[in-house]
Amino acid sequence: MIITQSRLEKLGPYPFQRLSDLLAPYDAADLDFIDAGAGEPRLPLPEFVAPILAQQLSGFSKYPPTGGILALRQSIAGWLMRRYDLNDVNAETQVLSANGTREALFAVAHALIEPEASVKPYVLMPNPMYQIYLGATWTAGGTPYLLPCESDHDFAPNLDAIPEEVWRKTRMVYVCSPSNPTGWVASKNYLHCLIELAHRYDFYVLSDECYSEIYWQHAPVGLLEVAEQSGYENFSRCVVFNSLSKRSALPGLRSGFIAGDANVIALFAKLRSYTGPATPLPLQHVAAAAWQDEAHVVQNLAVYRSSLAAFFNVYPGAVPEGSFFVWLPVADDKAFAIAAYRDCAVKLLPGSFLATEDEHGNNPGKGYVRLALVDGPEKAAELAQRLLTIRI
Ligand SMILES: Cc1ncc(COP(=O)(O)O)c(C=O)c1O
Repeated sequence: MIITQSRLEKLGPYPFQRLSDLLAPYDAADLDFIDAGAGEPRLPLPEFVAPILAQQLSGFSKYPPTGGILALRQSIAGWLMRRYDLNDVNAETQVLSANGTREALFAVAHALIEPEASVKPYVLMPNPMYQIYLGATWTAGGTPYLLPCESDHDFAPNLDAIPEEVWRKTRMVYVCSPSNPTGWVASKNYLHCLIELAHRYDFYVLSDECYSEIYWQHAPVGLLEVAEQSGYENFSRCVVFNSLSKRSALPGLRSGFIAGDANVIALFAKLRSYTGPATPLPLQHVAAAAWQDEAHVVQNLAVYRSSLAAFFNVYPGAVPEGSFFVWLPVADDKAFAIAAYRDCAVKLLPGSFLATEDEHGNNPGKGYVRLALVDGPEKAAELAQRLLTIRI
């Protein structure tokens, strides 16, 4: 599906704004409020954060390097090599620090997309999706091409029906694995096919892996590891994005990274030398320590797994492969979200707010709600009990 609307003015209100508008006429039920709307981890601060911050306070009086201090880039490169069993990642040419993945996922489109006249205008992305992909594409002058993610394909963004003509005009493809909002996890084969297509048709694969450390059974495969296994040791045409927001439950640190193809990293670094918001130095030191510590990640994962188990112990359904989101089928997503708030004091997101309608008026998010299980197992079970009482 091709969307041919013009730029910025076509950006709708962000899903959380739409949710506030939807719920504004109602009062929440008089119960302990459960906010399952925002995907914000609510776990204890890892122990190493405060001492490092205290030690590095003087760094607030210096301008931080936009691309990140070398110690942080080395720490990220080391994590990538350990996590994905990679032969080598060059901290200086293949890794850049970012102020969270949100800005990196946005800025990368501005680094890669040529203006409207481009012969390669298409940016492929899942639908439903993390809305930044859409906003980045529109504002950079690209043309979004939406890949429906539906239950009959296990919510994989469907690559089958893409005409040759579109592949030839594709500049880049956003993948999100584990997926927000569906919990789908890309297989090795899926990523391998995408990498081969990228080389055949000359485009970039941008893999948003910020939920990589939150999974039900098996640690998700990553794009760089598949690139290396497919013979692309230099990760050509492949870049990944990851963040401490979900892995380390540190969304306020604003620290993430972009890594992979050195040509993309160089373009990105150039753009960010003009626009880039740098993470303050003391926070970069905390981030460098976080990528070296797995103990807190293992603890966090145990909490997410118990929460998923607690929810599905009560509510019938299949546990998602990855992320802390539940993509719950319901008859009417907006009516369900209103009832959850009004009758159960639960905030959740209607799926249709996370997807875009196609030319036939189909919205692949319609008929689902997204829940974020971020308050631990007890609340997850309580949430499931309350949702079971909704008759819509
Ligand atoms: C799929 C996805 N990508 C990226 C982000 C951005 O995270 P951050 O900017 O905190 O790294 C989020 C945040 O919710 C997300 O859900």
